[in-house]
Amino acid sequence: MFLRNYWYVAATDSEIGRKPFARTILNEPIVFFRTEDGTPVAFEDRCAHRHLPLSMGRLVGDRLQCHYHGLQYDRTGACVRIPGQDRIPPDAKVKTYPVVERYRWVWIWMGDPALADPARITDFHWLDDADWGAKSSYLYVKANWQLIVDNLLDLTHLAFVHESTIGNAALAEHATVKVTRAPNNVVVTRWIIDQPAPPTFVKVGGFTSNVDRWQIIDFAPPAFLRLDVGATPTGTGAPEGKRVGGIGMRNLNAITPETETTSHYFWGQAHDFDVKNATLTNTIFEQIRTAFHQDVEVFSAQQRNLNIFVNPPQIDIAADAGVIAARRILSRLHDEEQAASRVAAE
Ligand code: FES
Ligand SMILES: [Fe+2]
Repeated sequence: MFLRNYWYVAATDSEIGRKPFARTILNEPIVFFRTEDGTPVAFEDRCAHRHLPLSMGRLVGDRLQCHYHGLQYDRTGACVRIPGQDRIPPDAKVKTYPVVERYRWVWIWMGDPALADPARITDFHWLDDADWGAKSSYLYVKANWQLIVDNLLDLTHLAFVHESTIGNAALAEHATVKVTRAPNNVVVTRWIIDQPAPPTFVKVGGFTSNVDRWQIIDFAPPAFLRLDVGATPTGTGAPEGKRVGGIGMRNLNAITPETETTSHYFWGQAHDFDVKNATLTNTIFEQIRTAFHQDVEVFSAQQRNLNIFVNPPQIDIAADAGVIAARRILSRLHDEEQAASRVAAE
C-alpha cells in the first residue's frame, strides 16, 4: 500500500550529481542527474526506444544519452537526437517527475504532477538551520515502510533494543504518555520524570543526577517522523516549558518506500546546544547511528517473518496507541486516493 500524492525524499543532495543515479521509489525505477547549472532532474529509468535503463547512459551537456543506441533526452524528457536520422518521432520522450531540493535532500513528487506544490514539503529545517548542529544519513532497509513508522511511534522499544545507547528501563516502566490525534497527524508525548539519564544523554549532556526527559513524536503522512527529544536536570521545570540546563535534540526521519518489502530510510539528528561543535555533532550522530542499526536488524527480521507468515494475526498492547492511530490515518488516506483516482478514470 503506497500513497502517491506526496513529496518523498528521493536522495541526499550529494547522491545526485553529473553521473546518472538509479533509485526505485514506490516500485518505479527512476534515474536522477543534475544539469550543468546544478538543477536536479528525475526521469523514468527506461529508454523510449528499447527499454534499457537510462541510468546506464551518460550525460552529454544537459542531455542524458542512452547507452544502447545513443538517443539523447533533454531535461524535459523529450528525445532531441537520434543518431543517423533527422526526424524525431513525437512519442520519443520519457516520463519526468517534479523534484525540489530542500533541507539537503532531493524530494520527488510521485503522484499527479498537477498537484505537486512545493509548499506541501514537510518541514525538516533543523537539518540546515544555523541555530542547530545537524548531520543526516541514509539507510537501505529490507522491510516494509510501515514497520519503520511503527518503530518510531512506539519508543518503549528503546528500553530493550537500545539499552546500550538511548534507552533504559525507566522509559518503559516510569513514563506518562499522551496520544493526540488530528485528521492527518498523530503526536505521542512521553515524559519520564526524575529518572536516570540513558547512556547517550550522559555522554553528550554530562548529566550526573536524575533527569526529566521528554520524547514528543510528531507523525505526518505518509512516513515523516520528527522527534523532539531531550532532558534537563530533574525539577527545573521542563514539563512546564522551562527547558534550561539540559539538552534538546531533533531526531528526524523520512521513509520512502522502494517496494512493498524494502525502504529508503533518510534520517538525521540535530541538536540545540553547542551547535558549532562538529565533534559533538558527530558524537551524537554516531550514537544514534548505532541505535538505528539495532532497529534495522529488528525490522528486517520482522519482514523476514512476514514474508513467511502471510498476514498473521497479531495482538495490540497499550503502547501501540500512536501506532494504531497512524495506521488508521494511512489507511483512510489510501482509500481516499483510490476513490479519487477511480473518479478521475471514469
Ligand atoms: S534502447 Fe535506448 S537508444 Fe536504444
Ligand atoms: Fe529504535
